[in-house]
Amino acid sequence: MNAGLKNLESWKNLEKHFGEIKNVHIKTLFSGDRNRAKRFTLNKLGIYFDFSRHRINEKTLDLLLMLAEERGVEKRRLEMFDGGKINITEHRAVLHTALRAPKGSEIFVDGKNIVPEVHDVLHKMSAFADKIRNGQWKGFSGKTIKNIINIGIGGSDLGPVMAYEALRYYSDRSLNFRFVSNVDGSDLAEAVNGIDAEETLFIVASKTFTTLETMTNANSARSWILSKLDDNEAVAKHFVALSTNAAEVSKFGIDTKNMFGFWDWVGGRYSMTSAIGLSTMIAIGPENYSQLLHGFHQMDEHFRKTPLRKNIPVIMALLGVWYNNFFNAETQAVYPYENYLKRFPAYLQQLTMESNGKQTTLKGQKVDYQTGAIFWGEPGTNGQHSFYQLVHQGTKLIPVDFIGFKKSLNPLSSHQDYLIANMLAQGEALAFGKTDEEVRAEGVAPELIPHKVFDGNRPSSTFFLDVLTPANLGKLVAMYEHCVYVQSLIWDINAFDQWGVELGKVLAKNIIHEIEDANASLNHDSSTNALIDLYRSSK
Ligand code: F6P
Repeated sequence: MNAGLKNLESWKNLEKHFGEIKNVHIKTLFSGDRNRAKRFTLNKLGIYFDFSRHRINEKTLDLLLMLAEERGVEKRRLEMFDGGKINITEHRAVLHTALRAPKGSEIFVDGKNIVPEVHDVLHKMSAFADKIRNGQWKGFSGKTIKNIINIGIGGSDLGPVMAYEALRYYSDRSLNFRFVSNVDGSDLAEAVNGIDAEETLFIVASKTFTTLETMTNANSARSWILSKLDDNEAVAKHFVALSTNAAEVSKFGIDTKNMFGFWDWVGGRYSMTSAIGLSTMIAIGPENYSQLLHGFHQMDEHFRKTPLRKNIPVIMALLGVWYNNFFNAETQAVYPYENYLKRFPAYLQQLTMESNGKQTTLKGQKVDYQTGAIFWGEPGTNGQHSFYQLVHQGTKLIPVDFIGFKKSLNPLSSHQDYLIANMLAQGEALAFGKTDEEVRAEGVAPELIPHKVFDGNRPSSTFFLDVLTPANLGKLVAMYEHCVYVQSLIWDINAFDQWGVELGKVLAKNIIHEIEDANASLNHDSSTNALIDLYRSSK
């Protein structure tokens, strides 16, 4: 049992304070303070972060900030930037921030400045992206590349897909991008359906280059290319690799001069600004890509240098802890009111849940408190017509992050006004609700009144930016990355390993063998044995 967190002075004070504030309505907090919106808003880097619709007052914030101080957040954020081996179970530094460090800066790992290598890879990526974009890179038969298929899974897929969808407006529309992740053959089959192999480039993205799904898809993609081009030499023109594992890349048959490298200090879910971003760079071009990196870097610097009270990721993280550990909220919703961000919640699921879905402290004890929340969401306004009912009137408390932009990239008549009006109305309805008296005053039949009452008091943050640009996307992603790290510091867990996904992988390997060998004896539980038998008999 780890008693550390609960024994902190700030934690005990938060517990006491929770008793005082838990029944105070957000409405009361607003009516008692005319400056509340201003008091609980940060406006930094073009992000207007309104956190006034939360169940907090000044004292809550003071105590949460004390907690961050007691947990050493000020010092420990620097440890990450300085290359400390904070991923203690894998003995690795955690330096995704170095991937967006400007040329000329210095960051040392084991005595070596890694920034020049980062820029070498960026340079190589730019040259390659330009060759694809201007048609200089030809397929084996001399045709120009028109289709780019990224094969990867987890961090080697979700970042590229999310960024491609988010920045599609800035993308080269003469190129066709597809993303294959699932080992389900339908994913690859649909991706190559109707396209010409001679015009297709596969990007095999895998940090380890051993992931079952990715290697299975990459092998089938290679067979598909060879079935059309019938020459092993074709592989060099139609495959490139993004990886840290040169040996496996060349074993696969990809020339390592067509490999874009990265390093063990980049975690999979933190890798979208490493070579894993190659598909993004090809789509939007090196110039826009460098704006994306700049946005990331701006948020990195904000997180690194800003005092905790004015620090966006820190405040977000502390609010998350407040609901998770005191109100017992199980989930955190993210609703982008920007259709291009439709894959952003899925991206955040890996970032947040693979990072903070842990129950063991850094010293190896079991926690006696809740850790990472379940992240989920969909773009507004779509979500309003499906699950928002539960968020408004259900029995669960679900803190929400609304993300909106003042300007649309596709201004069509009143669409943007309607979109933003909806986002603002949802936050208002969640916080302030509608009372019995208000419903009655509308002349609603008495028996319907209880059904039409909204309790309100449901917390939300609003992030309001100008327009979705590559730089703004970078700021938003880095903001959540740092929020995750701060929460891991509060919960005393390692946000940078993922041992929890290993057992399933090992068991799958055993079962694959048992499926392939019909004579293999089955020594699982009776449920697994029966299911394997059922599947075997269908083959
Ligand atoms: O199984 C989980 C995981 O290791 C993720 O952390 C990672 O993003 C994904 O698999 C893919 O790994 P790789 O890039 O090595 O193929």
